Amino acid sequence: MLLIQLIYPLNQNKIMRSYRVLLISVFIFSSCEEIEKSPKSTWDIVQEKIITPSCSNCHVTGSMMTKQSGLDLSQDDSYSQLVGVPPKNISAKNDGLVIISNEGGMKGLNKSYLWEKINAYDREHFLSDHPDYGQMMPPGQNYLTDGQLQFVRSWIEAGAPESGIVSEEQLLLDSNKYTPPEFTPLEPPKNGIQLHIKPFEVQPNFEREFFQYTKLNISEDIYANRIQIEMRSGSHHFILYSFNDGMGSSNLPEFDVPRELRFDDGSYNIKTLRTMQYHDFFSGTQWPRMDYKLPPGVAFKLDSQFNLDQNSHYVNRTDSLMIGEVYTNIHTVDKSEVLHEAKILNWANQQILLPAQKITTLNKVFMVNKPINIGQLFSHAHEKMTEFSVIIKGGNRDGELVYWTDNWQHPPIMSYDPPIKLNAGEGLQLITTYDNPLNRTVTFGFLSTDEMMILFGWYYE
Ligand code: HEC
Repeated sequence: MLLIQLIYPLNQNKIMRSYRVLLISVFIFSSCEEIEKSPKSTWDIVQEKIITPSCSNCHVTGSMMTKQSGLDLSQDDSYSQLVGVPPKNISAKNDGLVIISNEGGMKGLNKSYLWEKINAYDREHFLSDHPDYGQMMPPGQNYLTDGQLQFVRSWIEAGAPESGIVSEEQLLLDSNKYTPPEFTPLEPPKNGIQLHIKPFEVQPNFEREFFQYTKLNISEDIYANRIQIEMRSGSHHFILYSFNDGMGSSNLPEFDVPRELRFDDGSYNIKTLRTMQYHDFFSGTQWPRMDYKLPPGVAFKLDSQFNLDQNSHYVNRTDSLMIGEVYTNIHTVDKSEVLHEAKILNWANQQILLPAQKITTLNKVFMVNKPINIGQLFSHAHEKMTEFSVIIKGGNRDGELVYWTDNWQHPPIMSYDPPIKLNAGEGLQLITTYDNPLNRTVTFGFLSTDEMMILFGWYYE
């Protein structure tokens, strides 16, 4: 109405002037409209507050994780990669899921593979009923917050629209996170061996780390394709080692006797340190609960002489006594089922020097001299680590990101299917960033306040 009145006077000049007024009004009008539009759509918020910070570091253009999952979430077109798209995961696809369904309601939620993969509260169901759905996202028990989950859930229930507001942004304020169930002793495996470190004490304000050599009582070679570990909370890590030939059979430790790494006053026990030089890594975890399955046809060989040195490290920063306890199940398969013998990969950089009050990035390349296929990788570092990336070095995939984490405590265990193939003369480069806020230099060492830079995993030739 107002605009018509403005151009109504018929004098030419006036008309020109009025046009100008009209144009200005239209301009003001449309920019008003833009201001009104500016509350972001729910999808924009999903992208900005959930996908970009929690997912895009791995699902980035050209990374191994992007190739494996078929999902590049680092570009502007994430919506079209997710909604209504069949998953790459064969099992989920065969179950009729799409990555995100736009059917809305419970049906939409039930048909959304992404929801299955992020919904931490259904973790037990995910792990037991869908063994082929891959890992939960983000991997490594780095669950989204309850607020983020609720926000995504209401968006999917509303049909996952690309525009419009369908979830309350307030929800995002809820920063609680799912915590996995408390320690529960493991049932012994149907086929295989169970190890158990019975409850032990960790003194207040003390880091207790010890080794305990355990006889496996096997009389012939066995093949393990699944390892489960369950620990009481408070563990920094738990690792299983075997001893290599350098140890000499006469020096092997006594069975079932704990060997402390540190005395009560914190000083190192040299006798224990000496045995550590002859360790070969077998398996381990920084999570209170681990279930580590090799793909069908792949298994570790444990020869008839094989025994394990169990290494538990608990950090007690409280003023009260803490109790530790660890169960390990080694599940075995028949030799006839084994096509590839998995070998352990353990690439460590011990040249660590982190100047006081500085952010330092260390690089180390490990090359192979014969072709290998890497099926799994995970990093190990301590509390000053802020980022750990691994890229391929050499060959036609030079520079491709294959591993990334910013979580030193729970680094994701990444499985690669197909495996990462490295040819002779190619390798992996570890790139690790540390933030040392202390007034002293930090170096390689075994305390959680020292640092490490290790890439663990398995491969076959
Ligand atoms: C540490 C790296 C990493 C992070 C972080 C990560 N992903 Fe993944 N994602 C992977 C890998 C590797 C796969 C393929 C294996 C699997 O499904 O477990 C995958 C698979 C997926 C799939 C299955 C795709 C398909 O079609 O089969 C979805 C969906 C997914 N991720 C969503 C997410 C979301 C959402 C986030 C953030 C909340 C996220 N991812 C964070 C590495 C990562």
